[in-house]
Amino acid sequence: MKNIVLFASGAGSNVQAILHYFKDKNAVNPVAIVCNNKEAGVLKIAEANNIPVELIDREHFKSDDFLAILKQYKPDLLVLAGFLWKIPEAVVQAFPDKIINIHPALLPKYGGKGMYGAKVHESVIANKEKESGITIHYVNENYDEGNVIVQAHCRVQEQDTADSLAQRIHGLEHFYFPRVIELLIG
Ligand code: GRF
Repeated sequence: MKNIVLFASGAGSNVQAILHYFKDKNAVNPVAIVCNNKEAGVLKIAEANNIPVELIDREHFKSDDFLAILKQYKPDLLVLAGFLWKIPEAVVQAFPDKIINIHPALLPKYGGKGMYGAKVHESVIANKEKESGITIHYVNENYDEGNVIVQAHCRVQEQDTADSLAQRIHGLEHFYFPRVIELLIG
């Protein structure tokens, strides 16, 4: 069994997909969910699955205390699944090559600070891109800049809205993210 700590502050559909994928596999133990939003949908998922939650504010997130708590979970992998804050340098250094993120576009395009959620898809559509996709990558000290692990592509259709494109992208995310985690911890 490998321990994973999930970081999520949104609806949590990726967390749900990951939990579902590993449910009967005995490969992964989701030891905690780190969240910075007490209204986040992912908290309900945590509760339903009896996973401890570390609810954080900015100050706590950057503290030695938080790093110590993370270490206590003995994570083999830290998985950012819809988490928007930059990971503190001390955390990146404490877990080299053990932190991964998923981004809903083909990095290096449509990445960086402020590029998240609908904004990503609106920009892709405004620029009349013919394709978009997802990027799963290692996390370093800069937003969306760590080494790419995998990218998956999808078409952008002429009639697409940010919502319809987001749905297609979510489909890719839910398929690839658990499988990449499985490969990395294998
Ligand atoms: C995903 O699109 C992911 O790429 C991005 O945040 C979104 C999270 O969605 N980093 P959800 O909360 O997993 O539904």
